[in-house]
Amino acid sequence: MTRATWGTRLGFVLAAVGSAVGLGNIWRFPWLTATNGGSAFLLLYVLLILLVGVPGLLGEMVIGRRSRRNPVGAFDALGGRRFRALGGLALVASVVVLSFYSVVGGWILRYTAASVTGAYFEAPQAYFAAVDFGPAAVGFHALFLLATVAVVYAGVDRGIEVATTVMVPGIVLLFGVLAVWVATLPGSAGGYEFYLSLDLAYLRANFFDVLVAAAGQALFTLSVGAGAMLTYASYIDEDRSLVADGTLIAVLNTGIGVLAGLVIFPLLYSLGVPPGSGGPGALFVSLAGAFADLPASRLVGVVFFGVVLLAALSSAISIFEVLVAYLVDEHGLGRSRAVAGVGGLFFLTGSAAALSPSLFALLADTIANLALTVTLLGFLLFCGWVLGRDAIAEYERGAGRVARLTGRPWYYAVAVVVPLFLAFTLATGVGTLVGAPVSAPQAAVIAVAAVGGTALATRFLVEPT
Ligand code: PHE
Repeated sequence: MTRATWGTRLGFVLAAVGSAVGLGNIWRFPWLTATNGGSAFLLLYVLLILLVGVPGLLGEMVIGRRSRRNPVGAFDALGGRRFRALGGLALVASVVVLSFYSVVGGWILRYTAASVTGAYFEAPQAYFAAVDFGPAAVGFHALFLLATVAVVYAGVDRGIEVATTVMVPGIVLLFGVLAVWVATLPGSAGGYEFYLSLDLAYLRANFFDVLVAAAGQALFTLSVGAGAMLTYASYIDEDRSLVADGTLIAVLNTGIGVLAGLVIFPLLYSLGVPPGSGGPGALFVSLAGAFADLPASRLVGVVFFGVVLLAALSSAISIFEVLVAYLVDEHGLGRSRAVAGVGGLFFLTGSAAALSPSLFALLADTIANLALTVTLLGFLLFCGWVLGRDAIAEYERGAGRVARLTGRPWYYAVAVVVPLFLAFTLATGVGTLVGAPVSAPQAAVIAVAAVGGTALATRFLVEPT
């Protein structure tokens, strides 16, 4: 059987943008911005997207296109069997992410439907508390998953590509309309102020916490570290500029993220609810609850949650495809059987998260960040120290003159600079998770040891080709 490929270049870019734009931009980003000092967070986040996210994204794309395989097969093909575990990390990360993602997707689906009748208008807090976890949440998670299954089942070019080519422009258009509309609401000005003004004092006082949160979010929002972009890039069948595509994906994702912020913060302010109150439920309780007071509240609800639903679906699809690609490539399964198997697995893991608020919070708050960071760290060290020159060659293949000039700087970034940074945030993050805080100097030492150790180890482990 020939391996699936994208129909067009634009199709690939839109599918990747669809993967990137999602709950990360709309649900996780406002929530993290609000709890990490507003625009101080925004500033670091944009910087980290540029300095860590984009090189990382390009690293994933290099591995995917060079191998034309799923994550596990990719490392096997490029480095040999002993590197398969790196791909295994990506599979684990994608299970971690989709397990909680699908629960939130279920909430969104429920709120889209409930907007039609205005079911949550009366008592928003009580409504959310009644539906967030438990059997009902399992049901809506299952429905959301079913929609994901339907698209992935239809195939790479006929399912994912067709669906995302419609979804992504739809998301931009609807958010654009919403952004203009919220600007006309009384009281929305405070939201812009909160969102766009710079609180350097906060940043200085909490630098490392904000840094770790912003780094995790920069990876999450670009869909980096779960093998999704690697898998999508493995379906590219022509020589074209990965640099151009990767940059475009990052720019569109950040643009749509900032646009979503321009809808959400002014809206929260005009409705009189401070952002940051209510944690992960904020979007549902404060925002949805306050819709009730607006004219045409049902229409607003359906449009708002409808866009979020599109964004969430186009991301879930990409995570789901990672495991499908793995089963198809490595175990020779037909697409329909692979989709059924992966669907069953995610039904179970997502149901566990839908039944246990503490499991959900653990996955969404900490484990997801750590899993993406570890995986990307592995990917980039592989690019830098195992692929070496081949990585640069793949990066430059199909790239224009200007883009080729960035080949070497990119190489040093993924071999040394970004891994140092990732290992640093990882040490800090794991320390906090296990209750043994790691100081910045300690984390720096760990990072240098980890990256230096890998560099040395590859000297002995990898036979020169
Ligand atoms: N980028 C997606 C979002 O922002 C989430 C995602 C993470 C998708 C990792 C794929 C892989 O919602």
